[in-house]
Amino acid sequence: MNRPNAQLVDVPGIDLTLRRPSAEDGAGVNNLIEKCKPLDENSVYCNLLQCSHFAETSALAEVDGEVAGFVSGYIVPESPDSLFVWQVAVAPQARGLKLGKRMILDILHRPFAKNVRNLHTTITPDNKASHGVFTSVARSLNTEFDTEVMFDEEAHFDGDAKTEMLWKIGPFRRADILPALASVA
Ligand SMILES: CC(C)(COP(=O)(O)OP(=O)(O)OC[C@H]1O[C@@H](n2cnc3c(N)ncnc32)[C@H](O)[C@@H]1OP(=O)(O)O)[C@@H](O)C(=O)NCCC(=O)NCCS
Repeated sequence: MNRPNAQLVDVPGIDLTLRRPSAEDGAGVNNLIEKCKPLDENSVYCNLLQCSHFAETSALAEVDGEVAGFVSGYIVPESPDSLFVWQVAVAPQARGLKLGKRMILDILHRPFAKNVRNLHTTITPDNKASHGVFTSVARSLNTEFDTEVMFDEEAHFDGDAKTEMLWKIGPFRRADILPALASVA
């Protein structure tokens, strides 16, 4: 791994790196998301934009040189102290390694996110894995979360998708991010 922003993460027995994605990762990310039900599959073009324009607020994990995890996110335009996490995807064989949590904290720790004090995402009420990840992140950042409907099954999805609840985590202290990252077991 010769990418300038790649960090080797110390997980015994696993060659794990975290880094910002680049456009060359778009197709690999698209393949990963396909394996991560129930995530919406986006076009490769959408993933290319996430991996280029939104690279500073997205993270890619590689295990043994293969794409194993991806988080897409952006700074909310009308709320510059809030990072919105769009999707979190971890390949089935790489789950349980705290990759999802590590990638989110890695983005928050970057200089680009220096003004971020809140983490937002949407989760469907039945996605227990996602609840687990974001509850764990909130706990590690010593903060609380609130939820409210963001996109309603009927009003916004015309009955074709489940209601997406907005999770608002924070505010948290920037000083709590590095210890949270360091303590991911
Ligand atoms: C959700 C997902 C990203 C979790 O990835 P992961 O790397 O295995 O999660 P982590 O290892 O970082 O786990 C972080 C926390 O979430 C909890 N968690 C993870 N999967 C869980 C599950 N299936 N049920 C309950 N809790 C779960 C872990 O126990 C851990 O909690 P802890 O810190 O209190 O021990 C992964 O399962 C996935 O890609 N699922 C399919 C796509 C999806 O639903 N994405 C989320 C919607 S945005």
